[in-house]
Amino acid sequence: MCGIVGYTGARSAGPLVLDGLKRLEYRGYDSAGLAVLNGEGRIEVFKAPGKISALENALGSRFPSGHTALAHTRWATHGAPNVVNAHPHTDCGGTLALVHNGIIENAPTLRTALVKRGHVFRSETDTEVLVHLVEELHTKGAPLADAVAAALQQVDGTYGIAVISTREPDTVVAARRGSPLLVAIGNGENFVASDASAVLAHTRSVVYLDDGEIAVVRPRDYRILDLSAAEKEKTVTQIEWDLATIERGGYAHFMLKEIMEQPDSLRNALRGRLLEEDGTVRLGGLNLTDEDLLKVRRIVMTACGTSWHAALIGEYMMEELARIPSEVEYASEFRYRNPIVDEHTLVVGISQSGETADTLAALREAKRRGARTLGIVNVVGSTIAREVDGGIYLHAGPEIGVASTKAFTSQIAALALLTLTMGRLRSLSILQGREVVRCLARLPEQVAQVLSKAPHVEQIAERLVRATNVLYLGRGYNFPVALEGALKLKEISYIHAEGYPAAEMKHGPIALIDDLMPVVFIAPQDAVYQKVVSNVEEVKARGGRVIAIVTEGDTGLAKLADQQVEIPETLDLLTPVLSVLPLQLLAYYIAVRRGCNVDQPRNLAKSVTVE
Ligand code: G6P
Repeated sequence: MCGIVGYTGARSAGPLVLDGLKRLEYRGYDSAGLAVLNGEGRIEVFKAPGKISALENALGSRFPSGHTALAHTRWATHGAPNVVNAHPHTDCGGTLALVHNGIIENAPTLRTALVKRGHVFRSETDTEVLVHLVEELHTKGAPLADAVAAALQQVDGTYGIAVISTREPDTVVAARRGSPLLVAIGNGENFVASDASAVLAHTRSVVYLDDGEIAVVRPRDYRILDLSAAEKEKTVTQIEWDLATIERGGYAHFMLKEIMEQPDSLRNALRGRLLEEDGTVRLGGLNLTDEDLLKVRRIVMTACGTSWHAALIGEYMMEELARIPSEVEYASEFRYRNPIVDEHTLVVGISQSGETADTLAALREAKRRGARTLGIVNVVGSTIAREVDGGIYLHAGPEIGVASTKAFTSQIAALALLTLTMGRLRSLSILQGREVVRCLARLPEQVAQVLSKAPHVEQIAERLVRATNVLYLGRGYNFPVALEGALKLKEISYIHAEGYPAAEMKHGPIALIDDLMPVVFIAPQDAVYQKVVSNVEEVKARGGRVIAIVTEGDTGLAKLADQQVEIPETLDLLTPVLSVLPLQLLAYYIAVRRGCNVDQPRNLAKSVTVE
């Protein structure tokens, strides 16, 4: 959630961490702050509520000079998003500054004890206990890294932290348990950051920290230690994507850029993986032999948010084509139940970021119970990608807009690839396999066709700008698309929206329908088309306004729907990749017309690294 950047090196540290922070703003944006160790050996702290631009304005021309600094953008968990609760937090003596991402669960107990020992707290945050704990040991002479390690032994919960001290001027100490953190290696300078986009302008060489590790970072070297201070050997990873891919490239918002990138992101998900002749696919990263895959008797897919919607589509695909009993679980539920999984269960975690705390915890729980785990992940080197037994990378490129778009369509494609692999090892014939492969290969071009209808969708959006409720209905493979369409609208336009299986409408939502209630039907010509037409009739009979997503050339619904958007024909299981596109655009244009901040909707965060 929160974003962290730290720097130590020859250059002026303040502007560098501020610039890095701007690239992390999508992680959280309710307040921001930075601390610079200045030339006189003092720590200067600046904070502001609101976005990073507010911090920049607060700093104005008073930018402190110094060569070591920390910065933080916050997504509040404990305490309101105001100046005192913004990070960095300092100790009683002004020796230390600390930033934190995560939740310290035993903060109230630690705080009471620290107050009894004379510490003065300024904020309501759980984070502040950390800085006072480090202070107790560091001011008695313990080196910063030792003091941090000892402090962390006392805390329950999750953290990614970075700390600086006036007593060790050219050092940033960072530590991780449950919240992502990396060390980025420059030339005569080094960084710590919660994600690589913060440092890409300066270096591509990074070392990902694992849970229980501490990094001691200086301008010309860094050391990675475990909590008992033993030194660890770590691999340096080269980041492959560049800065241009995380900039807006002429689009008004990241969300629109990412929607429009979908022909390419899908091409990248499929590249080198389709084997048309054999009617199957090549997935290099599964790390499972055909024998292992044949032993799978049950599949559990687990995820959160939009990725959970992709999982629902995966479940339908897996049961239809591979005939493997499959189910979908919210990761936050799975992790705290007593789930039935064993060595014959394949647990597939789906996550754009690869850092969602609940999805990670669900996969760890599955592993602990003996299940094989796979990750369908976008961010290379993320925690989930590193912890699962194997997986499929989406290769969609960085997704910055908080509302997920291109990751969703790539997740569906990746799930189709996994389904083909499992199906062809079982009863799926080579002819059926070839058909799926051919249709997958056509998808990027078809996606481009649908996206070229953006101006038409924008016109439809004009009429929905003042709606207060919108219902999304679909059946079969397009029921999860109804959920996703409603989620997109809620997330970025703050209009209440609900997704429902179309036939379930009769068991409740039909009561809401009147001439003020727009209903979006996702009704391509698939196996359940005729059933959906009946549901459209039911809405029209009650005066509802219908917007329909239909297959090209559909005349049946044209008579009933008030407005429609056509999508090209494909296999039923792949229709979601096309039918979701008008819904992404619809949500986008409505939100823009309502003046909402599309890329940074209120209260949301891109990467939910706290549970
Ligand atoms: C947050 C984001 C959503 C995303 C969900 C799961 O809620 O705002 O867009 O779908 O997390 O994230 P993941 O990275 O695990 O796919």
